[in-house]
Amino acid sequence: MTEQAGLDCLIQEAARRLSEGQLVAFPTETVYGLGADAENPAALAALYAAKGRPANHPVIVHLAPEADLTYWAASVPAAAQQLIDVFWPGPLTLILPRAPHIPAAVSGGQDSVGIRCPAHPVAQALLRAFARRKPHGQGGVAAPSANKFGQVSPTQASHVRQEFPELDEAALMVLEGGDAEVGIESTILDLSRLASGVGPVLLRPGHISAKQIAEVLGTMPGQPDLAAPRVSGSLKAHYAPHTPVCLLSREQLRQADLARTGRVAAIVMGAPPSFSVPGVDWVLAPAEPVAYAHGLYALLRELDKGGYGLIAVEQPPQDAAWQAVNDRLGRAAAARH
Ligand code: TXA
Ligand code: MG
Repeated sequence: MTEQAGLDCLIQEAARRLSEGQLVAFPTETVYGLGADAENPAALAALYAAKGRPANHPVIVHLAPEADLTYWAASVPAAAQQLIDVFWPGPLTLILPRAPHIPAAVSGGQDSVGIRCPAHPVAQALLRAFARRKPHGQGGVAAPSANKFGQVSPTQASHVRQEFPELDEAALMVLEGGDAEVGIESTILDLSRLASGVGPVLLRPGHISAKQIAEVLGTMPGQPDLAAPRVSGSLKAHYAPHTPVCLLSREQLRQADLARTGRVAAIVMGAPPSFSVPGVDWVLAPAEPVAYAHGLYALLRELDKGGYGLIAVEQPPQDAAWQAVNDRLGRAAAARH
């Protein structure tokens, strides 16, 4: 069997499993997702249970590029279409008003729905194969990141297996798709309240920046208000490894009495410091935000296994280009251990 035929076979098997209500993990360009049929409430319940996620947290519905958005969303505002034309397929999730026949379980009971069209070829092949199995040709795969609630998202298939040791191949199929290119979760933009006069709101920063969105829409997206749709990735403590994380400037790294906490891994950007600190291992990360984001989660996972008492992270610059990375680092550091 050629490699392509082998992959087609796996995709068909994965689509069959999804249509039977089972879970399938699959690669996307951001992080790996843990998928279930978005229209099957029992499959969604299994998804929430596997993740250990509270049932009132919404999940993103993933669609193939040719899917009919009006099947999922009660309305597709012009602003959504403009962004779709520029950024889909890609790492942008749009929150739109939910079509009434789509189960409320996908959005944690809210009247919106989060939709994303991933660019990864394996994800697209799966989404197409799954949609073809539906009588009406419209199928969506609800998929949060394939990790336990609150933990670091997986950027490799092996990470998914490590997250769910209790689920064997029979209970959870994991499609292989290499190292996730972007490495952090999609940008989330709320467009569900335009009809009531609330403009676009950035719920989660990501690879597609607020500035890029503003270039298309002509206005900068707003910050979440109290009435904004809930996003679990916006919980203060999220995306956290098991080892405590703290954020420090390079000068603080020199002066802090870090070794009190045991061996310390210090992630520094660009070049290692010219000084050494007893008990502290310097770990180099790129000094450029896209490359930093690409490798961040795999690095946190690796350091988590290193027996360290603390992961100290050199605080990246506070500018717009680093917004998504700073967001994830801030949440990792906010976790209590
Ligand atoms: O890059 C990504 O977005 C990845 C890949 C697998 O696509 N998925 C991901 O899913 O990060 P998850 O569930 O870990 O984070 C999705 C976020 C959650 O914080 C959820 O609350 C929010 O999207 N979300 C989904 N639907 C929503 C809705 N209707 N209203 C508000 N937030 C929503
Ligand atoms: Mg997640």
